[in-house]
Amino acid sequence: MSELDTRRPDPRAVIVTAGAAGIGRSIAAAFAQAGDRVHICDIDEAALTAATAELTAAGGTVSGQVCDVSDEEAVRAFVADAAQRLGGIDVVVNNAGIAGPTCLVEEMALADWQRVLDVNLTGHFLVTRESIRHLKRSESGSLVFISSLGGRHGYPRRAPYAVVKRGILALVETLAMELGEHGIRVNAIAPGLVDGERIQQVMAGRAQAAGVGVEEVTAQALALQSLKYMVDPADIGALAYFLSSPAARSISGQTIGIDGASRSIA
Ligand SMILES: NC(=O)c1ccc[n+]([C@@H]2O[C@H](COP(=O)([O-])OP(=O)(O)OC[C@H]3O[C@@H](n4cnc5c(N)ncnc54)[C@H](O)[C@@H]3O)[C@@H](O)[C@H]2O)c1
Repeated sequence: MSELDTRRPDPRAVIVTAGAAGIGRSIAAAFAQAGDRVHICDIDEAALTAATAELTAAGGTVSGQVCDVSDEEAVRAFVADAAQRLGGIDVVVNNAGIAGPTCLVEEMALADWQRVLDVNLTGHFLVTRESIRHLKRSESGSLVFISSLGGRHGYPRRAPYAVVKRGILALVETLAMELGEHGIRVNAIAPGLVDGERIQQVMAGRAQAAGVGVEEVTAQALALQSLKYMVDPADIGALAYFLSSPAARSISGQTIGIDGASRSIA
């Protein structure tokens, strides 16, 4: 038995996908505030410039690069540039994920279905594949994937989203088996309702589909939780940081829910 060394680890090299806004930005902030060097990607160049400037002004070491995670060549360049800029890669946070269509399967266009798979699942595969050789050289390699409560219980009118978010769990369990011998840990975070712009759009979509007000669908959603408030994105940043820290050195292949003790997504 040994005492766990809980001192802050040496600054690590961290990449976060879709880090310019929302949950990804909060995750980038959590690592940057702890002294890690962070390289983020996003498709929104203006948001990327603003986020890197703000996080740097707050004392972090944060850089950014335009990259659509579903574009194989762009991902190759993003990961290679990150490794060069940061001198390696210790932590990868696969956060990018679009909401996709809100409709029944029988009404769904193939292009809408395919886009969700391309961004939310193939994107994670591409970033991970390109990062593994760098993670193998790290002494503290960690991969964190952002799944969703919607991947655990099914998600009416959001079929492709539910499919990719459950697919991430299979990818995480498989990668944990493949990479454990290299000391690389792989875990997923499954958020429920997260406060922010995105959830407002989701609630608006549900309200429109049901023909009721946004307040009503929001109240219905919170009624499914034990804690009657939405998750703060900063709490997801803190959880991603913990899962990549020495305090979580024996945790791999897991999915950690952060959902106010929710019984269902909808
Ligand atoms: N918001 C929620 O309630 C919630 C709940 C559960 C899980 N999640 C998951 O958390 C993750 C982040 O969600 P969010 O609400 O912060 O998202 P968001 O919609 O706020 O988007 C965050 C960023 O992603 C970028 N982005 C979009 N497509 C991209 C692409 N192809 N490549 C690179 N960047 C791209 C956007 O430009 C934006 O800056 C997603 O995987 C989402 O599915 C969110």
